[in-house]
Amino acid sequence: MSSLLKPLDQGKLTLNNRLVMPPMATSKCEVDGKISKDILDYYDEKSRGGYISLIIVEHSFITQKGKASEGQMSIAEDSLVESLKELANIIHKNGSKAVMQINHAGSAASKDVTGFEPVGPSAVANPRKGNVPKELTKEEIKEIIEEFKAAALRVKEAGFDGVEIHSAHGYLLNQFFSPLTNHRTDEYGGDVLGRIRIHLEVIKAVREAVGDDFPVLLRLGAADYMEGGSTIEHSKIAAKEFEKAGVDMLDISGGFCGYIIPGVNGQGYFAPLTEALKEVVSIPVILTGGITEAQAAEKLLSEGKADLIGVGRAIYKDSNWAKNAIESL
Ligand SMILES: Cc1cc2nc3c(=O)[nH]c(=O)nc-3n(C[C@H](O)[C@H](O)[C@H](O)COP(=O)(O)O)c2cc1C
Repeated sequence: MSSLLKPLDQGKLTLNNRLVMPPMATSKCEVDGKISKDILDYYDEKSRGGYISLIIVEHSFITQKGKASEGQMSIAEDSLVESLKELANIIHKNGSKAVMQINHAGSAASKDVTGFEPVGPSAVANPRKGNVPKELTKEEIKEIIEEFKAAALRVKEAGFDGVEIHSAHGYLLNQFFSPLTNHRTDEYGGDVLGRIRIHLEVIKAVREAVGDDFPVLLRLGAADYMEGGSTIEHSKIAAKEFEKAGVDMLDISGGFCGYIIPGVNGQGYFAPLTEALKEVVSIPVILTGGITEAQAAEKLLSEGKADLIGVGRAIYKDSNWAKNAIESL
C-alpha cells in the first residue's frame, strides 16, 4: 500500500492519510482578525474532496500585542468562537480534520499593526526585523501563558480537532528557544531547559484548558540555521520534554527568518531534522518544506523520515494538487 494513503490510526488525532496542509497565513481575514467570507471560501476550496486528511489553519494571534500582520486571523476574543465554528464546519463537511495554530509574534510584531511596543525574551535585536523589543517581565510571561490557554480553549469550543502551538519562524516561542534572542539570566533563559520553560508552561496551561483527550500539536523551528542559533541538538532535548509534557504531535519546520534553509533546496529539505527527532520521540512527526510531488512524499514516508507530510506552497498555488497527487498513486 502507498505510504501516503496509509491511515494514521494511533494516537488522539487519527487521520485518513498522511497528507497535511501546513499553516499558511493568507491575510484574508478582516482588519481586526475576524473571519471573512473570503477566508471561508479559501478553506472550502482547499479542503474540497477531503483529499488532505489534516488542514492546519494559519497562525492566529492570541492577543493584540502578539498580532503579526494586518488581516491575520484572531483567536484573541471569546466572541470569535461562533464564526470560527463556521470555519471548522466547512473543513469537516469536506471530509478533512482541522487544527488551528495559535501564535504570539513577540518581537516580530510591529507597533504600526498592534499599537503596542513589541516584546521579547530579551532586549536584543530581532535578527529578522532588526528592532529591539522590550524585555518581558515574569508577570508578563504569565499573562502570555494565560492568553495561550484561553486561545486553546476557544479553538476547542469552535469545534476544531486540535490546537497547534507555534514555536517556529522567529515568533515569540522561537525567540525564547533561540540563543540568538534569549539572553535571559532568570529561569526562562540559559540552557535549553531554561529556554523551553515557557513552552512547558504553555503546554501545561493549554492541557488544563482543553483536557486530556484533545490533541495538542507543537510546531517547532528545530534549527535556526544562523550562527549562534538553535540546533538539532537543542531540539532533540526539547522534543523529548514536549512529548513528556503531553504534546501529541510535532510539526517540524526551521529557519529563524522563515521556513527555509538558506542555500538548500530539494523536496523535504528538513528531513535531516525530522529523521533525528523521530529517533528520540514516539509521537508522530510532520515533515514540511519543498515537497511538490506525490512520489517525493511517498519516498520520504517509506524511508521513515517522517510520519506525515506537509505540502504548503504547492497546494496554495493549485487547489487540485492533493486530488491529483492521491489519484496518481
Ligand atoms: C504565504 C505563507 C504563509 C505562511 N504562514 C505560516 C503560518 O501562519 N504558520 C506557520 O507555521 N508557517 C507558515 N508558513 C510556512 C509553511 O507552513 C511551510 O512550512 C512552508 O511554506 C514550507 O513548505 P512548502 O515548501 O511546502 O511550502 C507560511 C508559508 C507561506 C508560503
